[in-house]
Amino acid sequence: MIKSANWICSPIDTGDVCPVFSKDISIGKSVRSAVLSITATGVYEARINGSRVGNFILAPGCTAYKARLQYQTYDITDMLESENMIDIFLGKGWYRGRISASDEEINKTPGMVIAELQISYDDGSEQIIATDNSWTVSTSRILLSDIYDGEVYDASAEIKQFGNAVINNNDISKSTLIPQEGEYVTEHERIKPVKMFTTPKGERVIDFGQNIAGYVSIELTANRGDKIVVSHAEILDSEGNFYNANYRSAKARFEYICYSGHQVYKPHFTFFGFRYIRLDEYPDNIGIDNFTAIAVYSDMKRTGNIKTGSEKVNKLYENTLWSQRDNFIDIPTDCPQRDERLGWLGDAQVFVKTASYNYDTKKFFGKWLGDLRAEQRKDGSVPNTVPNFWLLNGSSAAWGDAVTIIPWQMYMFYGKEDILKQNFDMMKKWVDYITSDTFEEYLWTSSEDDKRLWGKHYGDWLALDAPYGSYIGSADIDFIASAFYAYSTEILIKAGKIIGKDMSEYEKLYQNIVATFKNTFTEYSTQTECVLALYFNLTDNKPEIARQLNDMIVSGGNKLQTGFVGTPYLLYVLSENGYSETAYSLLLQEEYPSWLYEVNHGATTIWEHWDGIRDDGKLWSTDMNSYNHYAYGSVCDWLYSAAAGIKPIETAAGFKEVIIASIPDKRLGSISATLDTAYGTIKSSWRYEGGTVHYEIETPVNATVIINSEKHFISKGIYRF
Ligand code: BGC
Repeated sequence: MIKSANWICSPIDTGDVCPVFSKDISIGKSVRSAVLSITATGVYEARINGSRVGNFILAPGCTAYKARLQYQTYDITDMLESENMIDIFLGKGWYRGRISASDEEINKTPGMVIAELQISYDDGSEQIIATDNSWTVSTSRILLSDIYDGEVYDASAEIKQFGNAVINNNDISKSTLIPQEGEYVTEHERIKPVKMFTTPKGERVIDFGQNIAGYVSIELTANRGDKIVVSHAEILDSEGNFYNANYRSAKARFEYICYSGHQVYKPHFTFFGFRYIRLDEYPDNIGIDNFTAIAVYSDMKRTGNIKTGSEKVNKLYENTLWSQRDNFIDIPTDCPQRDERLGWLGDAQVFVKTASYNYDTKKFFGKWLGDLRAEQRKDGSVPNTVPNFWLLNGSSAAWGDAVTIIPWQMYMFYGKEDILKQNFDMMKKWVDYITSDTFEEYLWTSSEDDKRLWGKHYGDWLALDAPYGSYIGSADIDFIASAFYAYSTEILIKAGKIIGKDMSEYEKLYQNIVATFKNTFTEYSTQTECVLALYFNLTDNKPEIARQLNDMIVSGGNKLQTGFVGTPYLLYVLSENGYSETAYSLLLQEEYPSWLYEVNHGATTIWEHWDGIRDDGKLWSTDMNSYNHYAYGSVCDWLYSAAAGIKPIETAAGFKEVIIASIPDKRLGSISATLDTAYGTIKSSWRYEGGTVHYEIETPVNATVIINSEKHFISKGIYRF
């Protein structure tokens, strides 16, 4: 039991240098099994006799550390010999790195590890070796490591011994230790460079052809003291020069000083968001073949696949997959490159559905919901990022609503009531919080100050109808907040009923919210307002509002204006209300602003702004411009569930049964989507041949297929229509 081991720290402050905690272990008997449990205030890498233990990069992962710190348990039976050296390298990671500098309560905790090795011998005896003051501490060759800033590694640095470790069980409560809940973060794709070139400014740059999160591995033969300094970037500017001003204060670089001979190096306790690297310093003999980019992300199982008749839509889909991988590094982040990389609730909420079609996210979000529960405040509000490393105050509508939307999505896809049981209290407290935080009963209204940029609400973040100089779109913030109040209450009621709670009080509340909403918000002036009223069923006049929305889009030349809040539902409300043709026109639009505009401008991931790169080559300002933000990739769940029509059913959650109601469009030509579920693989495809649509459907469960409004009830099998 790791909790009976001691937390140990270095006897001397090692500053930026990563310490190593070591222990010699002699084994005189035959070992049946050996299990090592470890965690740390930072990120660790354990080695036995020089070999890495496990494949978890950035262990123990990122959690709401004050309440939850995961420990990992590794089977190391096959690694032990008669004489052994265990080394645990410790980096600052999220716990003590720059990312959590505002939260001194965690950030100022000493660098510590706690570990326990349990050995069972063939003779039936047991031995426990736990961290205590018999472990020793030394320096490593990692001279600096930070998630935002990167790494400095001197492969020929002299190792200094600091003597014995100090036991320190006071700075952190062992009650926060929990077994691993999430997926391991591991290395995935290894990508060779596409080209190495010199920019107009004369800088040496390598292009990997794909924007990823991870790091670069270098293999070379060098002289002692040769130095390689690498900076990272997502794009080149309009002149073709290396550009990473959008990383803001994140240095995102590494420095590697070689020893003499053949060697392989990759950074340890950090990751970068990049497609390009610039070689700021390098030995003469270095070339393109010395470099490999390695993508690092949570090890989720791929569940969904889409291929359409449009190469550009296929590229959009690939870009979304990449933005998901790049931003699912133990927590769902906004972006993987600049000095942010935070678990923003709004971004996660808008993307969770797409994410769960693409990959099995049950464990990933299951763990993060634990952090969300831990971060919920007494009044039921939640910080806009989880973990709340920046100590942000307040809760924004559509960000805080992740509290209801994400558990509900998990239930719909994985069908487990447990997820609702686990999160029900949090969901209820969130709805109660909104009820208490308003000027007008049954709505969620706020002061003008709360509606200003960096006030309480983020509104329709980054919508194109934002007034000049603001990130907040023109959709009325009270409208948005009240609409999400209704939606969260509706989800809470459904969740409560499924797990056998009496929800009558909330049913009355919901009726009052809807009635008050309808009386208060009678006119809609933005695309997002129309979208929310339609999607959340907050209007008695759907045909009229849908017509209004369609007119706004068509009269503007089939152009969207929506931001983070409206975009995920935009195509749904069009296709569900008789305007599928407009939905497809938006999907297939290539002029700015559109999804394919980004594809045409060479995007390999999803941009934060519709106009991250403008037609004239100019870039959005450096203070908020990521090229790897998955939010607008949420269009992909419309591809799975509307275009290909694979929809879960509330009363048969987890795809125990399925509805397949696809929407063919001649301009797209064809689509083929598959989804692996607990019951097997669902496949839905259609293709145009001349004027005729051919459908092929494969279902492992009973399905309701809807074609041209006609219902077909089918059981397990393959069908053609
Ligand atoms: C993040 C967004 C986030 C937003 C909140 C930004 O800095 O990158 O994605 O949702 O702040 O307004």
